[in-house]
Amino acid sequence: METKLWNLKKNEPLAPQLIEAAALLAGGEVVAFPTETVYGLGADGLNPDACRKIFAAKGRPADNPLILHICEMDQILQLTSGLTPLAKKLMEAFWPGPMTLIVHKSDRIPDVVTAGLDTVAVRFPVHTVARELIRQAGTPIAAPSANKSGKPSPTNAADVLQDMDGIIAGVVDGGACDIGVESTIIDTTGPEAVILRPGGITLEMVSKVLGSVKLDPGLVKKDETPRAPGMKYRHYAPKAPMVLIEGPEASLGVIRAAVMAEASGLRTGVLALAGTVDHLPRSPRLIVHNGGSTLEELAENLFRELRLFDREQVDTIIGEGVDDTDLGLAIMNRMRKSAGHNILWAENGLLRRKSGHVPDYLKDFVVQ
Ligand code: TXA
Ligand code: MG
Repeated sequence: METKLWNLKKNEPLAPQLIEAAALLAGGEVVAFPTETVYGLGADGLNPDACRKIFAAKGRPADNPLILHICEMDQILQLTSGLTPLAKKLMEAFWPGPMTLIVHKSDRIPDVVTAGLDTVAVRFPVHTVARELIRQAGTPIAAPSANKSGKPSPTNAADVLQDMDGIIAGVVDGGACDIGVESTIIDTTGPEAVILRPGGITLEMVSKVLGSVKLDPGLVKKDETPRAPGMKYRHYAPKAPMVLIEGPEASLGVIRAAVMAEASGLRTGVLALAGTVDHLPRSPRLIVHNGGSTLEELAENLFRELRLFDREQVDTIIGEGVDDTDLGLAIMNRMRKSAGHNILWAENGLLRRKSGHVPDYLKDFVVQ
């Protein structure tokens, strides 16, 4: 199949530019589009055959439900059998925006969308392209991230095409995504709000509105299954093995690890904060990516930089961790998965093993 690409021209009215893409969506085809978080792989969320095409394009397991995207607040009413007061509070505080709510589903929703669950995930994005496209398609749009299952989510149209060219009907190119990590998923069906996936709306922001919020234990504990089915998969994984360095001296730890990896002859990818990048030696074997100097910048850059390592064919990757606070929680949730939970802890001049494997080039340096 030929994949169409629509380059949206800035300063031109959106509606005419989106007619063809919206018509394809309404006709049951799959079209990728930008949101403020990551690019989505959209299809008519009330058409089971169209939704099945999403699963096929991504190679997504059928037990992993989809998010339905809406273009105005009230559209959620046709998708749910009833909203809890918790849901209403969160909608008022954070919609439109990077937050997905789990609510009780209505009978209209095909089973393929919810993977047979009696709840459904609903999101009202703030991105004007996403909203206009949904409006013109005239139906809620089911959309997972537009990557092949297991790859980091795409945050620009070129990264979407890398995974989906020839496989889907089209890609709407609306430039790079602002936030860069996927939406915060919050289950509102129980007595207490539970964050199933950390994202752009932080735990701290939700706590302020609700007074309290829980984090799904499956996100932190190894032996518990996460409640969002998709969170159990190894995700966001670049091809080369990756080690993540966390702790108060993460920056120093990254520099030491990078020097050792390079010295052992490996083509070494490093994803670090600006302050660390400045102190890394220059070498043709060190492929250094600057994640930025704030959490916002790191989130925005993270997936694009991780995907680049695949194209650069590095042998090994070293990542710099940040604190689990604010946007750091969402970033670290993705980075730990990218690293397959191979994590070292840097403190007091030492590198200790926190979890997973220690790379060979560091075996003599790491305290087990
Ligand atoms: O920012 C985002 O949320 C992006 C953009 C495109 O909107 N979408 C996205 O979709 O990240 P996806 O499919 O990659 O992630 C959806 C997650 C999966 O982990 C899935 O298991 C979970 O939401 N999910 C969907 N329906 C659910 C439900 N009823 N209960 C629990 N988790 C659910
Ligand atoms: Mg995804």
